[in-house]
Amino acid sequence: MTNNTFQIGLDYAIATDKADALAPFKSKFHFPQHQGRDCIYFCGNSLGLQPKSLAEAMDVEMKTWQNLAVGGYFGGTNPWLRYHEYLQPSLTSIMGASTKEITLMNSLTVNLHLLMLSFYKPSIDRYQIIMEAGAFPSDQYAIETLVKHFGLDPDQAIIEISPREGEKLLREEDILETIAQAGGKLAMVMMGGINYYTGQFYNLEAITKAAHAVGAIAGFDLAHVAGNIPLQLHDWQVDFAVWCSYKYLNAGPGAVGGVFVHEKWASNSDTARLAGWWGNDEQTRFKMEKGFHAKPNASGWNISTTQVFNMIGLKASLAIFDEAGIQALREKSMQLTAYLEWLLQQLPNLNFEIITPSDPHFRGAQLSLYFKDQGRAIHDKMIENGIIVDYREPGVIRVAPAPLYCSFEDVYQFYSILKAHF
Ligand SMILES: Cc1ncc(COP(=O)(O)O)c(C=O)c1O
Repeated sequence: MTNNTFQIGLDYAIATDKADALAPFKSKFHFPQHQGRDCIYFCGNSLGLQPKSLAEAMDVEMKTWQNLAVGGYFGGTNPWLRYHEYLQPSLTSIMGASTKEITLMNSLTVNLHLLMLSFYKPSIDRYQIIMEAGAFPSDQYAIETLVKHFGLDPDQAIIEISPREGEKLLREEDILETIAQAGGKLAMVMMGGINYYTGQFYNLEAITKAAHAVGAIAGFDLAHVAGNIPLQLHDWQVDFAVWCSYKYLNAGPGAVGGVFVHEKWASNSDTARLAGWWGNDEQTRFKMEKGFHAKPNASGWNISTTQVFNMIGLKASLAIFDEAGIQALREKSMQLTAYLEWLLQQLPNLNFEIITPSDPHFRGAQLSLYFKDQGRAIHDKMIENGIIVDYREPGVIRVAPAPLYCSFEDVYQFYSILKAHF
């Protein structure tokens, strides 16, 4: 299926769903209800849906706690001592990393702070951090307070890359050029993988290469990428990355955060970090002795006891990812988003602009639509019709057809409402 073969009409959408091998996965999720029917849900870039398998998975751990109490760390169906390790194998294919390079702990911004503290070592000569202008506020605050923590002035230490005058997206050449120009002053590049607002996916490999070429570290916030676009973090030589599990990974509100630390750093127990007993080598952890001995892998960054009840949702969801396959999901996602884009292009009377890149390799599931005058009204009309999308001032509706639970028919319904009312 390509843009040339897309067709207008509900029949076409329904037939495409019938031919879609991933269509049955929709039934594995709970949907919010609207007038007795499942909503159409395009907000998986904010909070993913609940897997139906979660209630039973929760119950298993509730029973273990009930029946074994402290014995649950070593007994029961999923001994808690190693709970975060159960999540690593599925994430290896999603993130392109080995199990040794992935850990689960805390939450996204907390992990961003911890990892930046590991890798940001400002000196008199080398202290600058490059980030995107308009990054998610939490990232802005994290980087601002990090440099202040080291007694530096954010205006001097932080270089923000902006789109050119009159443009909304960052040009890759400008990112690479800014890195090269910062040169020996650059300590770290810390960018989002996908910008939350525009939906632009950056070339992580090229950015990492450029950062390394000037001797800087490359770290990424992959909140909008994890479970959306398959990555190759190890091969791209990314130094570290953090993400949340509550968006495309469907692990539930505030679920455990994910961390990648490249093997070259993770295997070295001397790599700097702030430590706690859960990152200590298991041979000596329970000896309760003085002196931290980091595990020689990303789990050496874990600080506290595994947050079991914050991980069950991720475990349930990753089982679904394993079944569907991240590559197959990405292929469907590219088609669904291209179909949405194509349908929107069939609405010449609507005064709007698609901010997200038109090249499918530089976007994930999300399209950000800037409606020049009727954004709020369109958003409200969608909600009134049981279609959940989000709205950001000044007139941007973000639509994210997540391939696990969105269909071609869902996308067609979105188009139909626009066509009928605007
Ligand atoms: C790109 C990005 N970074 C950071 C955050 C903040 O994550 P948390 O509140 O889990 O720390 C979000 C939340 O949506 C986000 O989208």
